[in-house]
Amino acid sequence: MSSVTWKCPSNIALVKYWGKKGNQLPANPSISFTLSNCHTITTLSFKPKENDGTLLVSFAYDGQPMPSFEPKLEIFFNKVESLFPFLPGSILEINTTNTFPHSSGIASSASGMGALALCLCSLEKEIGNTLSDDDFYKKASIAARLGSGSASRSVHGPLSMWGQSNLYVGSSDEFAIQVDEVHDIFKTFCDTILLVDEGTKNISSSVGHSLLNNHPFAPARFEEANKNIESLKRALMIGDLILFNQVVEQEAMMLHAMMMSSNPYFLLMKPGTVAIIQKVWESRKQLGLNMTITLDAGANVHLLYPASERIKVQAFITKELAQYCSNNKFIHDQVGSGPIKMA
Ligand code: PMV
Repeated sequence: MSSVTWKCPSNIALVKYWGKKGNQLPANPSISFTLSNCHTITTLSFKPKENDGTLLVSFAYDGQPMPSFEPKLEIFFNKVESLFPFLPGSILEINTTNTFPHSSGIASSASGMGALALCLCSLEKEIGNTLSDDDFYKKASIAARLGSGSASRSVHGPLSMWGQSNLYVGSSDEFAIQVDEVHDIFKTFCDTILLVDEGTKNISSSVGHSLLNNHPFAPARFEEANKNIESLKRALMIGDLILFNQVVEQEAMMLHAMMMSSNPYFLLMKPGTVAIIQKVWESRKQLGLNMTITLDAGANVHLLYPASERIKVQAFITKELAQYCSNNKFIHDQVGSGPIKMA
């Protein structure tokens, strides 16, 4: 058996992807910070053609078989089989581990699907299919996207954007691209993830996306997201922390407002989520700190701040915010440079 290993980080969207069309294509473009400490390490072992054409996949998480992940993997492999012609008939063993809890609103599907897609592209290379570096990451992003939309962005860092926009040359609904025009302040930004709830979500993001199909506010939401891409691009280029804060927080609030106004409606924030948001909003002016909150499809709060304010913000987190977290838990992370091939 030949095998490859990739470490792939999670990402946190600044302008959110919420709503899709066609074959896992986004209803609007999105931009994210690629993280560093929150990542998945996946080893993919491969044995070539053994049988009539059926692909056999076994999956272990932290060394233990995980049958609950198998349906998602089956759907994923059905979607990517045509991209990787060596797959039918082969045997794959996937061994994966995360540095953070899965299905808790930290994008474990982003790092997980990203790592798996990168492994598949590396295997293809080992078998003899040559791809330029550009095409390698493009293909990995396409394959990751078919597993989970936000995963398309995890193959680049420190910032990544997915979805066609006239503002970004080379952008596409099919794959993510690296965002290059970024002020230095954002290349070392910090993200502390406040773990309000470590449990499994009761509404999957695929159900959430599908509720945008008949959502009365969807057209306005997609328009606003496109406007926010434009404002965020400006903030990222010139290092405007005030504009960054306005756009990113409005995006988080709008994402959850879309959830609360879907049919059926649902609420992913918990009392601790709201308490943290209020505490940050009350305190930041008085403390003179550039703290921005954002949320994914879950109850956990991501607190974003410049590296130069790390000591003060982290002291504030321990003193004022940890009490709202499950078992006082949080994860200090920062923007990272993207995935790494480990073997
Ligand atoms: O990639 P999915 O299908 O899990 O959707 C993720 C959606 C959000 O995390 C809420 C936003 C985003 O752009 O990552």
